Amino acid sequence: MELTIKSSYEEMSKAAAVKVADLLNAKPNAVIGMATGSTPLGLYKELVKMHKNEGLDFSQVTTFNLDEYVGLPVDHDQSYHYFMHENFFKHVNVPHQNIYIPSGTTKNFKAFCAWYENRIKECGGVDIQILGIGSDGHIAFNEPTSSLSSRTRLKTLAKPTIDDNSRFFEKREDVPIYAITMGVGTILESRELLLVANGKGKADAVAQMVEGPVTSMITASALQLHPSAHVFLDTESAGNLKMRDYYEWIQAKKPGAPKL
Ligand code: PGA
Repeated sequence: MELTIKSSYEEMSKAAAVKVADLLNAKPNAVIGMATGSTPLGLYKELVKMHKNEGLDFSQVTTFNLDEYVGLPVDHDQSYHYFMHENFFKHVNVPHQNIYIPSGTTKNFKAFCAWYENRIKECGGVDIQILGIGSDGHIAFNEPTSSLSSRTRLKTLAKPTIDDNSRFFEKREDVPIYAITMGVGTILESRELLLVANGKGKADAVAQMVEGPVTSMITASALQLHPSAHVFLDTESAGNLKMRDYYEWIQAKKPGAPKL
């Protein structure tokens, strides 16, 4: 795992955006895995800025989103379809037909999940998967005890996730209980992973992801199994890391490392 710790959310978001832009410049037809939630908003803002000011081009890009609530129509203001359109897609030039987001309203979840997995493969696999982390250590909606080899499927949300997400809904009862989500196994097949986290509320989950055992109780700990996982943190979310000095030492010494 490669850790980058920045002094603020804005700096963390900028550094993560540079990573995505570097990939796009090297591979203009990259397949990008997208994430929702409040954390990646800064990263999306930076990418939109790069598109508008520096001509960062998404015209050959394909995207696959991690998850979607079950039961919300695509135009519901809390659906992840709506979130992605408002916060990213309407500001950049990803072709409409290249955008894939799990359907929360399909009549046949099993068939849809199999189709989604297959579509990722047909498009060549995900080059870089953007991820957030839940306060319970989840990635996408892979709640505690999700198999580390799980695939795209229907999932029942854990109560802490419903509590966390109720801030976006009028009442707690309005938060959907089910979601469709890529599995941990699906995520681990991406060529690169890019996880962003900020704030004190994530410090425990981040410490367990980076320094705890690999366990389905913290599905983000599966990143330890991935050969190219990049984690971007602000100082607050890095606050409980025991070996933080070491990670910062690596970060400082990296520019001088022998070139491959
Ligand atoms: P957040 O959600 O970015 O809104 O904190 C993260 C997640 O649950 O993956």
